[in-house]
Amino acid sequence: MGILEVKNVSKNFGGLKALSDVNLSVRENTVHAIIGPNGAGKSTLLNCLVGKLIPDTGSVMFDGQSVLGRHPYEINQMGISRVFQTPEIFGDLTVLENMMIPILAKRDGTFELNALTSIGSQKDVIERAEHMLEEMSMADKRHFHSGSLSRGDKRRLEIAMCLSQEPRLLLLDEPTAGMARADTNNTIDLLKQIKEERDITIAIIEHDMHVVFSLAERITVLAQGTPLVEDTPENIKGHPKVREAYLGESA
Ligand SMILES: Nc1ncnc2c1ncn2[C@@H]1O[C@H](COP(=O)(O)OP(=O)(O)OP(=O)(O)O)[C@@H](O)[C@H]1O
Ligand SMILES: [Mg+2]
Repeated sequence: MGILEVKNVSKNFGGLKALSDVNLSVRENTVHAIIGPNGAGKSTLLNCLVGKLIPDTGSVMFDGQSVLGRHPYEINQMGISRVFQTPEIFGDLTVLENMMIPILAKRDGTFELNALTSIGSQKDVIERAEHMLEEMSMADKRHFHSGSLSRGDKRRLEIAMCLSQEPRLLLLDEPTAGMARADTNNTIDLLKQIKEERDITIAIIEHDMHVVFSLAERITVLAQGTPLVEDTPENIKGHPKVREAYLGESA
């Protein structure tokens, strides 16, 4: 049994079958990659895991509890955190202020932006945010405006924001998309470090095979909303079905 169990999940958008009968089992404390061509249904699947979408059929269980129909905040409280495909930080706020948001939200259950304006009374939150930035090697950038960060540092900040919620499952939707090679390699190193230092399961959607094969212990290949195969990286690499459907090569 995996910590995350997806069973027979289907999702249609009008006449379009985005997901058809998807089964996925993510084992605790592993890095599990979900790969597949554009439009394969990867983000739709992730949206079903975090309460953003409710599948038409099927079940999604995290640690024995259903996530379906729950508010995203509740799912967060269950131990699932997600980095979205498009960066979700406030560009006008500083790195430190962004870092405070999930810490405030976790403490209060709700978040009010004006909590940031009474910054002097948030000493404990500032301390925790600064500590997290230190752990993520971003302390020297804490007063930078987040919008001015490199793509790699924006991702690093988002991942730090997720980790401050102490998730047991971290979901990453194409964390290295559009990055230069150096930033990509830094992100790989960061995720390896996170995996080493914490009890955490990571599910990662990724197009860059260098990232996938550097990190993943299991890989699921999705094509047209259906899992083609789930296996180890070694077996996936040479799989004729994968080469044909995903890489566009005939076997
Ligand atoms: N809210 C929506 N309404 C209608 N169609 C949608 C919606 N979200 C996704 N789709 C469609 O569902 C299919 C799967 O989309 P999804 O975003 O899950 O693919 P993906 O594998 O994440 O692709 P990419 O690699 O480009 O991010 C696509 O054909 C997409 O156009
Ligand atoms: Mg996507």
